[in-house]
Parts: sequence; C-alpha cells; structure tokens
Amino acid sequence: MNKTARRRSSHIVFILQILILSVCLFTAGCGRQGVPAQSVRDEKLIRVGFSQVGSESDWRMANTASMIDAFSEKNGYELIYDNAKQRQENQLLAIRNFIQQDVDYIVLAPIAESGWDDVLQEAKEAGIPVIIVDRQIAVKDDSLYTSWVGSNFLAEGQRAVRWLEGTIQQQGRLNRPLRILHIQGTDGATAQIQRTKALDDAVRTHPGWTIVSKLKGEYTEAKAYELVRDFLETGEKIDVIYSENDNMSFGAIRALEEAGICCGKDGDVMIISFDAVREALELCLQGKIDICVECNPLHGPRVAALISQLEAGETPAKLTYVDETFFSSGVLSEELIKEREY
Ligand code: AHR
Repeated sequence: MNKTARRRSSHIVFILQILILSVCLFTAGCGRQGVPAQSVRDEKLIRVGFSQVGSESDWRMANTASMIDAFSEKNGYELIYDNAKQRQENQLLAIRNFIQQDVDYIVLAPIAESGWDDVLQEAKEAGIPVIIVDRQIAVKDDSLYTSWVGSNFLAEGQRAVRWLEGTIQQQGRLNRPLRILHIQGTDGATAQIQRTKALDDAVRTHPGWTIVSKLKGEYTEAKAYELVRDFLETGEKIDVIYSENDNMSFGAIRALEEAGICCGKDGDVMIISFDAVREALELCLQGKIDICVECNPLHGPRVAALISQLEAGETPAKLTYVDETFFSSGVLSEELIKEREY
C-alpha cells in the first residue's frame, strides 16, 4: 500500500476509533473508568519512530538533540523516540513497535551494520519507509530502506592517517618505528569498520608502523579508561593513540595522566581523536589532543529534508554523505569553539 493510501486508511481507523469510543460511552455507560487511557492522535502531524543507538558519547547526545529538535510538533511531526541503550535487540523491538503503531516513517540509527534484513522486510510489508541515519546497514536487498544520510567514516580515518604521516615527516621520523595503540568503537559499526580500515591500510604501507594493541572501547569514556589503564600497567611503550571517538580519548587521557605520561603536542604520546565535540576541541586547543577529526552529528534537519522530499512525492538520493573537516591546535581558537553547535 502506498503512503497516501496508508494515510487514508489510518484516517478511517481513527474515525472508527472515535465512533466506537462514543458508542461505548453512550450505551454501556462505562464512563472514564472503563475506557482505557488512549492518547488522541493528531492526524495532521507526520508520525516518525526514531530508534537511537544509545547515549554512549557526547556525539550521540548532540545527535539525539538534533533529531528531537527537528521532529518537533511545531515542525509538523509527532516523534516516537526510543533509546536502545547500545543493544541491537532493543532496536529490533523498537522497530516492531513502530510498525504496530503504524508510524508514517521509521528512522533508524543502527548500532551495527548487520542483522536488519528480517525486521526491515516487516517494515516494507507494512508499507512504512525506513530512513537510515549515521552508520550504514548491510542488507541483501537495498529496497529495504529508502535513504541513508551520514558521515564518510573511511574519509575521516584517511584524514587522520594523512595528518599523522605529514606530522611525523615534518618531525623527520617517517621511517622510524611508530607504536600505535588503537582504541576501537563498537564492533561492526560503520564508524568502527571504516576508521579501522583507514588505519590498517596505512600500517600496511608503512613498514615502521605497528599496532601494539587493539582495545574494544565501545565508544565510551569509562570502558576506554579501564582498558588503557590496564594496558599501561603492562609497561609497553606507545607513541600514538588512535581513538575512534572523543569520549574514548577522554578516558585514555585520564589513564595516561594517572600513569604520569604526558600526551598531545608537547607530550610523549600523540592523540588522534574522532568527532570534534566541544570538550575535545578545548583539549586540542590546550595541546592535549593532537587532532580532532570531525564527525558531524547534526542529522535532524537532514533527515527531515529527506522526509519532506518523500512527502512531496520525490525520490531522495539513496546515500548522502556529509561534508567534514579536521582540527589541530594551530587552527583552533576559543571563538571558533564557541561558534560550534556541539
Ligand atoms: O557513529 C558515529 C559514532 O558513534 C561517533 O563517532 C561516536 O562518538 C558515536 O557514539
């Protein structure tokens, strides 16, 4: 069934619900007590079910705020928001709930790339368009989602390794050994897969570079802190930390400082960080983080624009990549940081 037909049938269901409710109140005298609490749906609003990964990072909080802001009632939406607390099974449950509630659109910020075929097939059979935001999904049939918008995570990783090459070349140590501690994000997430690929590719082409350990920091400060603290206790030396998001960098910096190791521009360990949230930019300006590679979380208006296109009967681009940059302390200032939205 197409969108207009679905809307029309949902109007009919709504009118029937009102009729049944009135008959019940009138004939059975069931009154307030006998009627199950039920919110009356504003049929003028576009209903969007949004399944968010969790609240693991500052980036994620900024992303959630952007979505909630874009899908407000004043913008013509009714948003049903679900926080999956970093568990894919919660996302599957949320999507099935959205289908049951017959939302107009499902928006999914997927925790990992795989595992979506069945549930998105159900959404397709229910005639509900699905928009993917942030990380990508790997499905056998691309028609299971309408459109995706997010970052080019491989380009982000390549930006980081190009900066590293340039910096150590300037320092005259391009061909010297470089020991890298790699802190990875959630397994199977596009941001993890692609940022990891960029580093692995670079290590293959630089005989002196070694990854001394890969730690699974799950994009959280607490996990990264614990893992880096335990790693440093082994006494193994490192030159660089490649941390797949800012919050894990915060945890790593805390562990380094507790171990009496200086990091950043004038320290013994370089810090490469992803996201460029405000606190990380401050640390970069102070010289504790060497480079913040931007990952833009402000996807709310971008997803809303895709929905507007669909509402207008247009076909939006299947994939939309967001423009991004990077920051090192040389280009940062308090004014620039203040102007940023996250
Ligand atoms: O998918 C984007 C990544 O997820 C961000 O880099 C990270 O901070 C977030 O949790």
